[in-house]
Amino acid sequence: MSGDGDARLGGRALQRVVYGEETIRRRVRELGAEISAAYAEDGQLLVLGLLKGSFLFLADLVREVRLPIQVDFLVASSYGAGTSSSGEVRLLYEPASGLDGRSILLVEDIVDSGTTLARLLPLLERRGAKRVDVCALLHKRLPGVTVDVRWVGFDAPNSFLVGYGLDHAEDFRHLPYIASL
Ligand code: PRP
Repeated sequence: MSGDGDARLGGRALQRVVYGEETIRRRVRELGAEISAAYAEDGQLLVLGLLKGSFLFLADLVREVRLPIQVDFLVASSYGAGTSSSGEVRLLYEPASGLDGRSILLVEDIVDSGTTLARLLPLLERRGAKRVDVCALLHKRLPGVTVDVRWVGFDAPNSFLVGYGLDHAEDFRHLPYIASL
């Protein structure tokens, strides 16, 4: 690892860099171009970032989208301080923007068990969204996870990943790369 102190937060060592800065930058640029083309005819798009994990991905992605968009956030939490999903999702903050009749792009950092999306997508549809597509930077593609994700940055390994928004007990989110713990 880089030896700059980032890699040993809280005494836990990172194993290896899985997606480096340049790899992420290149893929985010591609996603931005695909999204720009897909919504070119749609009018104004509402990009909803699912916090906290998506904050860096969202910030980089929206700068690659060449369309008139609006940005808002929602907060859901499905993990405690451990390294496996509890299967519970709590909504801690809802978007202030009206969703009625809107085309929404929900931006997520990682699809793991799929619980978060399985819970959120129907909720957004119930609020009257015209259409909700998901863009996830990482997707573990675990068996049995059938949630519909339109754009995926990378098919991710089934290990505990941190950095570029992803945390372990709130540490490591700020790293500009994604590493396994
Ligand atoms: C993580 C991650 C996704 C979700 C994925 O969020 O950011 O939103 O879990 O897991 P799932 O597919 O098993 O539901 P978390 O609840 O840890 O909150 P955070 O975004 O604040 O880190």
